[in-house]
Amino acid sequence: MLSRRALLAGLVGLAGVAALPMIGMFLAANRSLAEAAAGRGRFFGSALTSSDLAADDAYSRVLLDQCDVLVPEWQLKWGALAKSIEAPADFAQVDAIVQTARSLGKKMRGHTLLWHEHMPQGLADLTQGADWDRYVVPHFNQLLDRYADDFFHWDVVNEAIEPRDGQPGFMRDTPFYRMLGPDYVAEAFRLAHNLAPNAKLYLNDYNICYADSWQNDRRAGVLRLLEKLVTAGVPVHGFGIQGHLDTRFSFNDRVFADFLDAVTDMGLELAITELDVREADDPGGLTIAARQQRAADEVSKVLSIALDYKALSGVTTWGLADKRSWLRSARDLPDNQGLPYDDLLSATPMRAALADLFSRSPTRG
Ligand code: G3I
Repeated sequence: MLSRRALLAGLVGLAGVAALPMIGMFLAANRSLAEAAAGRGRFFGSALTSSDLAADDAYSRVLLDQCDVLVPEWQLKWGALAKSIEAPADFAQVDAIVQTARSLGKKMRGHTLLWHEHMPQGLADLTQGADWDRYVVPHFNQLLDRYADDFFHWDVVNEAIEPRDGQPGFMRDTPFYRMLGPDYVAEAFRLAHNLAPNAKLYLNDYNICYADSWQNDRRAGVLRLLEKLVTAGVPVHGFGIQGHLDTRFSFNDRVFADFLDAVTDMGLELAITELDVREADDPGGLTIAARQQRAADEVSKVLSIALDYKALSGVTTWGLADKRSWLRSARDLPDNQGLPYDDLLSATPMRAALADLFSRSPTRG
């Protein structure tokens, strides 16, 4: 098979200067998503597991070819590292991912230090301030002593907002909230910064992008929390918009841009951290090709706004191919079309959309 370089030489030899626009299109279509993003000073990556990398198969090759940032999808979570709050942590699977990333010069996003799901046994029952020092602080020490310099971003607190919990500021009622009240978020960021001073520290949350009225309170809760952290001088550097997009919801450019303006006006970075598209339960007779195009259009709608911000540091998808999507198992959508590569690892229209979105976006300073 002709290499890209040989093909390029042939094109120039044949058609000379007239080939330049075609060469530009050839390069754009053949650059990896990481190269397209890096060309604008941003990163592109995906969530994965140690078994994805260990398989050394077509999927791991697409992952490593397309991504310059790797995110452990679940193996870095507290409940995946330790069976219970009294049990020792087993870092073997994360060590394997870190080793591969280091050997290939890939960056890593740390997901996530505190989350109310995938917790070790016993954590959900904790309610006292003393539990923070007894269990949470050692968890941070263990993780960040081991990996501080391996992860350039950390999702320090994941999903801190839940309006349905009825708490002040739309805070989610989690074990961490019960231990220290709303100040647990500031404590977590201060602790993470002391242990990993070179990492960028992110707050991460979901259902932020759409104009559906129930997302207004979610956006308000995030902004109130970020304002409190920034005003108090807490070392928070960015906000991660998970970006689990959904063809059932209604999008409004202005509503989303107003939120992004409010976050970036605080001097914070942005990242799209878990990009994928959830389709409606009933595909409505659409062909697979039409559904893939619909998913690509959903990504273009949202990312054409987000990528307009130089504060947007990068994009990571939640898996790279549909056959690996959590939506297929956890949401029982057996043929959901929501990622840049399909079940046969062919590029979907979403891949082309992402490459085009990066190439049209302003270059970050
Ligand atoms: O594959 C192992 C199996 O070998 C093992 O025996 C079994 C024992 O529990 O676990 C299996 O792994 C499961 C893994 O998904 C792979 O399917 C884990 O149990 C299960 O907890 C894990 O779920 C992950 C979930 O977070 C909880 O950590 C999903 O993969 C992951 O996509 C999902 O990601 C979350 C983000 O962290 C936060 N935003 C929402 C997003 C989707 O829920």
